[in-house]
Amino acid sequence: MERRDFLLAGLGMTVTALTACSSGTPSAPATPWRAVTPLRIPPLARPGPDGWIDLRLHEGNTAFRPGRPTPTWGINESSYLGPTVMLRRGERAKVRVHNGIPETTTMHWHGMHLPATVDGGPHQPITPGTTWQPQWTVTNRAATCWYHPHPHGATAQHVWRGLAGLLLVDDETPTPAAPRTYGVDDLPVILQDRTITGDGDLVFDTVPTFGQLGDDMLVNGVLGAYHQLTTATVRLRLLNACNARLFNLGFDDDRAFTMIAGDAGLLPSPVPLRRLRLGPGERAEIVVAAGGREPFRLRTVAGDEAIDRGDHLLLELRPAPGVRASASSAIRTQGPGPIVPPAGATVRRLRLQGHDAINGQEMDLTRIDEVVPAGAIEVWEIENTVYAHNLHIHGVEFTVLDREGAPPELWETGRKDTVHLPPKTGVRLAVQLPTHADPRAPYMYHCHILRHEDAGMMGQFVVVEPGTEAATPRTLSTPGPAADHSAGQH
Ligand code: C2O
Ligand code: CU
Ligand code: CU
Repeated sequence: MERRDFLLAGLGMTVTALTACSSGTPSAPATPWRAVTPLRIPPLARPGPDGWIDLRLHEGNTAFRPGRPTPTWGINESSYLGPTVMLRRGERAKVRVHNGIPETTTMHWHGMHLPATVDGGPHQPITPGTTWQPQWTVTNRAATCWYHPHPHGATAQHVWRGLAGLLLVDDETPTPAAPRTYGVDDLPVILQDRTITGDGDLVFDTVPTFGQLGDDMLVNGVLGAYHQLTTATVRLRLLNACNARLFNLGFDDDRAFTMIAGDAGLLPSPVPLRRLRLGPGERAEIVVAAGGREPFRLRTVAGDEAIDRGDHLLLELRPAPGVRASASSAIRTQGPGPIVPPAGATVRRLRLQGHDAINGQEMDLTRIDEVVPAGAIEVWEIENTVYAHNLHIHGVEFTVLDREGAPPELWETGRKDTVHLPPKTGVRLAVQLPTHADPRAPYMYHCHILRHEDAGMMGQFVVVEPGTEAATPRTLSTPGPAADHSAGQH
């Protein structure tokens, strides 16, 4: 320890990089991974004195590689990504989204339970120079959600350029022994793969079926991230904000960790793991014992699904000097159990076909694909005919009933809003549908591989008063802003 500290003090970054590479690199990527950049902690965004949270989208430049700035899009003071929006259950969320980029976009609150008119999907465009001002009452339980643009056909590009951020919901549920000081022992970890040339150019690197996949791993928008810990345990809020990549996450020393929450909040009980699969759009909160002397690294290992190619190091964690390891088994959190469909629950089937269609059709903003009764619990059977997909449903939470007839693994027993489907497999979901009825304002369901979403692997459902399903029109005459969309100069 003395030796390492001495070297760090005397020689700075060069030695830091050597230390980072001294052990555990799982394979030899083109450029050796080096932990050279302090993890960026996105600032917290809370309502201002007038009760509003401001998100200002703008063009900027980001030097992913030192001295090599590249044009990106960012939010507020960041030139890439945005602040972490923090909301509390029960409060009124009011957000002003100002579009300062040269293209029409939207802002979707992924994971939030809210009326479709403020969901921020493709029906709520924000034209350049205008401000969209949605508000809603926060009814979600504590969870790690996120926000990102959702413009029809252009989501992949807008997210890839840098528009995304975390949206954390807090509530009164006790979480004994779980770390909870944001940026200290409760860390945001936004994972994205990119292709960034030696000159710093951000390349939109597409593979035919899946779209953008890269081998340069950004965590909170920085390459080669490390974080100096100050506590014996740390909570990582993992978000897969990639366009297409699937992560098989773990640590380079294979240490155990405890998963406490998934997409929609706490698991029924904490689950000890060494490996965790996280598909595009999915989140997981894990607690890691981090005492000892040696730095250790979050990594992903290659799988066989085409979207999880390559072994990659992601983030180096450096234990606090003198802090002893403490067991994360002390964590006692308790989330809700599975959603149980009533006898005779409606069953809907979604066949995900090729890379661009669901049930034989590509997305059409004027077509309502499903009409569902408000507040119902239904069984949705998802069948994946060819490639890997990640199905996401807006405005709901669901639990996995089974995969190919087998009950879900323990880590998949919590409430979710996005689910991974390996190639040619099926999953059955128990879906708790939204309570906000509005026959003219659809919610989306789609593959969260953004190329697939943009290509048309998306459908729309409206929520109606029970009993009015048959009378509900299946077409929308005008795609675009819903009735109470409020945009204007700001
Ligand atoms: Cu994360 Cu429809 O999106
Ligand atoms: Cu969503
Ligand atoms: Cu897909």
